[in-house]
Amino acid sequence: MTPVLSVWFTFSMKPILRVLLAVSLTVAAHAADKKPAVIDVSKIPLPVARKVDFQKEVYPLLKESCFACHGAEKQKGKYRCDTRDGAFKDTDYGKTIVAGHSEQSALIHMVCGLIDEMLMPPPSDKPGRSEKLTAEQIGILRAWIDQGAVWPDGPIAEYVKPVTFEADLKPLFATACASCHSGADAKGGFQVESLEAVVKGGKSYGKSVNTTAPAKSPLLTIVSGLDEDLPLPEKHKLPPKSVDLVRKWIEQGAK
Ligand code: HEC
Ligand code: HEC
Repeated sequence: MTPVLSVWFTFSMKPILRVLLAVSLTVAAHAADKKPAVIDVSKIPLPVARKVDFQKEVYPLLKESCFACHGAEKQKGKYRCDTRDGAFKDTDYGKTIVAGHSEQSALIHMVCGLIDEMLMPPPSDKPGRSEKLTAEQIGILRAWIDQGAVWPDGPIAEYVKPVTFEADLKPLFATACASCHSGADAKGGFQVESLEAVVKGGKSYGKSVNTTAPAKSPLLTIVSGLDEDLPLPEKHKLPPKSVDLVRKWIEQGAK
């Protein structure tokens, strides 16, 4: 049909036919919109340049960032990633995990925010909840997929990260406590520079940790902000993540 004829034909149609034509054109245009957009992966964080360990690095990461919505209890978007079958289930946005090709994996596109409205974890206005993955975390997921996306059979044993004084507590205490608790005139005779000094404790409390009953450790009570007899309570209260670290350190034997 020539354009002129087609215009004449459209206008000569009964109104109901005209409406139908308009509706079908809109539907066709909408369907074309829904084609997966071309995804630009050139700017996303690079895979980390080392062999990653599924049990120690990948599973705990998924657990911390995804299981609240995609685990045994909730399966938002009918997706769960606490089991291998669940994690590899394909999505409406393409193949979730393409072993050997993180750049083609929808899971990576989602955690990088490359799919419209599908940033995972979804943004939240509650601080501390649903935090965007860091470049390092995305790099770990990418490296795991690039290295073959191996997910061992059977239940995944929980990995407990070792907490040590040198690696974890010394830097923490250096910033939060050393201004008052170092050297010969340390307040209360409590020094934070060495493992021995911290375990030995100060003048009034004595030994700061109780490894057989960790919850009864004076140090834990103090940094939790629960010791009401201590001066300057606000200087002694650490944020929840740090308190957790101190607790784990004591539970693991305070070494
Ligand atoms: C606070 C809740 C929440 C968290 C945390 C979360 N998601 Fe989601 N996720 C959702 C919701 C809601 C949907 C469904 C969105 C939609 O379809 O519009 C979804 C959908 C998905 C889908 C697509 C399922 C499909 O077939 O369409 C994948 C894949 C996914 N999430 C992966 C992840 C990963 C990986 C993480 C962790 C890095 C994560 N999500 C963290 C809420 C969450
Ligand atoms: C601004 C100074 C200041 C900061 C910072 C500070 N403290 Fe103290 N701390 C004190 C004072 C003052 C006392 C009480 C000393 C006394 O009884 O003579 C005290 C007492 C203590 C005691 C009891 C010592 C004893 O007598 O047995 C411990 C344990 C302790 N602090 C741990 C910490 C830890 C752990 C931090 C870091 C999270 C910290 N403090 C940060 C000032 C501070």
